[in-house]
Amino acid sequence: MTDIPTPTYEVLQHLSDERFTLLKRYAEILATKGIEWGLLGPHEAERIWERHLLNSLALASLISQGATVVDVGSGAGLPGIPLAINCPALQVVLLEPLLRRHTFLVETVEDLGLASQIEVVRGRAEDHHKQYQYVVCRAVAPLTKLLQWCLPLLTAGGELLALKGKTVNQELTKVLPQLRRANLAADIVTLPGNTFVVRVH
Ligand SMILES: C[S@@+](CC[C@H](N)C(=O)[O-])C[C@H]1O[C@@H](n2cnc3c(N)ncnc32)[C@H](O)[C@@H]1O
Repeated sequence: MTDIPTPTYEVLQHLSDERFTLLKRYAEILATKGIEWGLLGPHEAERIWERHLLNSLALASLISQGATVVDVGSGAGLPGIPLAINCPALQVVLLEPLLRRHTFLVETVEDLGLASQIEVVRGRAEDHHKQYQYVVCRAVAPLTKLLQWCLPLLTAGGELLALKGKTVNQELTKVLPQLRRANLAADIVTLPGNTFVVRVH
């Protein structure tokens, strides 16, 4: 058991006791096995809530209840696992090409008892041929690449939600011609905690 301070953030207030317990369990898995397996840096344990869980949950307000979601390049399950825990009505696929990370995800989903809500798929976005209402991703690739890989994964009317850092404006400017050619629009949503989301629709 890792000593992670119990969070009291407002954004978590709506969670049922059961879901809050799951989120705490996931934080514990990240802070122990996630670090041991090298999926998170050695100093991330103290920053699990702010930097990883709350950052992932910032997307929750942009996703409709009951939607289908694919988390491209899920790594240790971010942002897909916090989003699934936050909203039991979502159906989430975690897409990850690397075996070690895929194994971590399978074991984590099993540990959390969320196999009926979360499917783990090993593969690359560009080789995946299913469609979803939302593609979410964090720290996977620049927008130019993400658009190539992820637009084919969207159903008609679907949205790509990419968590980005401070270079968000430059990245978006670069892909404007690409978006125009695909007849798509994009905006930047600024969320609490210096979090930016590029929303392509
Ligand atoms: C820096 S990690 C980020 C992991 C997680 N999203 C996070 O925020 O902690 C990038 C992940 O993208 C995955 N990845 C790289 N290329 C990919 C591709 N073409 N399709 C799907 N995932 C990919 C990598 O295997 C890796 O797990």
